[in-house]
Amino acid sequence: MKKIIAANWKNNGDKKFIKNYFEYFSKNLNNTNKNEIIFFPPDLYMDQIDKYKKQSNFSLGGQTLNTAGSDSDGSDLVLTSGTSSEMYINNGCSYILIGHSEIRQFSNFLIDGPKMDRRWTERETIILALQGSDSLQVIFCVGENEDDKNAGDTHTILSEQLDDLCYLKVKPKKFIVAYEPVWAIGSGKIPTLEDISFIHRFIKSSILEKLSSLKEKDIMVLYGGSVNLKNAKDILCAPHVDGVLIGGASLKVKEFTSICNLKI
Ligand code: PGA
Repeated sequence: MKKIIAANWKNNGDKKFIKNYFEYFSKNLNNTNKNEIIFFPPDLYMDQIDKYKKQSNFSLGGQTLNTAGSDSDGSDLVLTSGTSSEMYINNGCSYILIGHSEIRQFSNFLIDGPKMDRRWTERETIILALQGSDSLQVIFCVGENEDDKNAGDTHTILSEQLDDLCYLKVKPKKFIVAYEPVWAIGSGKIPTLEDISFIHRFIKSSILEKLSSLKEKDIMVLYGGSVNLKNAKDILCAPHVDGVLIGGASLKVKEFTSICNLKI
């Protein structure tokens, strides 16, 4: 079954690294592979990586979207440092990550001016990004932190985060969610396979409840947080897992290529 294997490079890489990486990747990626491979590189290197798409089959995505939306009264939001969905599309992207926990943590920003002179909440910033995401396929990240988990609040937190999906202006053909427990990101710890399956099932039914026009086959849930070559196959084979979102291990080209070449 077709799975999504996504590489979240965060703020890593430079021109030389990218050249070496894609020379290896293009030669060693198994072309009969049916998985959808997506790279989320830093914006500045999008154009350089886009050129390698001719040699191997992958898609590109942006790591966040912070403008191209409109503010609460519907007028355009102008934002220094903003990147719009049109800019991503213009640079070969078809996906956008929204709501990664690292962005949620730093997403409150101050907008001053006659209409808004207060700090935006994390939720408003996420909704703004969703509103600006028309025409890019969103991968919407959700996940509980360690305190939520220990307090038994995982389902409540996930359900609240998923409520924000209702703000998508255009309902996409596919809904893709990445379940990334915050405590698993970069820590080497992962939930049990049973917990991953159970939570993915919960995410799917929760979206179906919120957006009743959808069918289960339209929803994909990826797992992210300390995925590597040793655990990727088991995670990808677990029920209700439609793919993986990989940070650290996606920067090691041999390891990431081997994960892409896994036969599931
Ligand atoms: P990790 O990061 O694979 O290094 O844990 C995942 C992510 O942040 O998306």
